[in-house]
Amino acid sequence: MKIILSIIILSLLSIQSFAESIASFPEELENWVLVKESIIPGKDVELPKETPLFLQDTVQTYNWINGGKGTKLNIYVPKEKLEAYLNHGPYADGPTAVGIYEDSDIIFVTEHLMGEPIYGTYNRKGEDISDRHPTFNMSICEQCHTENKDICINGTCATPIIDIFKK
Ligand code: HEC
Repeated sequence: MKIILSIIILSLLSIQSFAESIASFPEELENWVLVKESIIPGKDVELPKETPLFLQDTVQTYNWINGGKGTKLNIYVPKEKLEAYLNHGPYADGPTAVGIYEDSDIIFVTEHLMGEPIYGTYNRKGEDISDRHPTFNMSICEQCHTENKDICINGTCATPIIDIFKK
């Protein structure tokens, strides 16, 4: 009985931990370097047919943000990690990159710990908002950033979604 109980408690704990940001909110974000200006197009924007499925998937997952009107998505990296970011690693411990939904109060954080990527979702005040929407769940971040190995290498993915529209 005790064993069953502890299994139940353990699985509850692991569900609980997935509902919270695991990456920490970066300090001194204002000193980070803008490495990329991207966008999430609005809900009513039709993506060109040749858009890779992976990007269509990303847009569909997050185009509800900002009331479905679309938003700028700017990516910032700390100075000391710029070189590692450009090479997709090796990453020292600590926050690695943020994606700021500029027209919304949402900041996606990717951090590395012992070479492994971990994720978090915060508002500008640094409050954990990962429980505000199902698509903010850490297991969703992890799944997409891990499964698409040709684009996301070592947990970082910046692919120019905006370039699709420049063609
Ligand atoms: C369905 C796929 C998908 C999901 C789910 C996803 N991402 Fe991403 N992520 C991407 C793509 C694609 C980019 C590159 C965007 C660009 O270049 O415009 C990206 C970029 C990022 C960046 C900018 C740094 C970089 O180069 O990777 C961060 C930080 C980030 N994601 C964190 C998160 C967090 C936190 C979550 C979960 C709340 C999450 N992502 C969920 C696909 C995804």
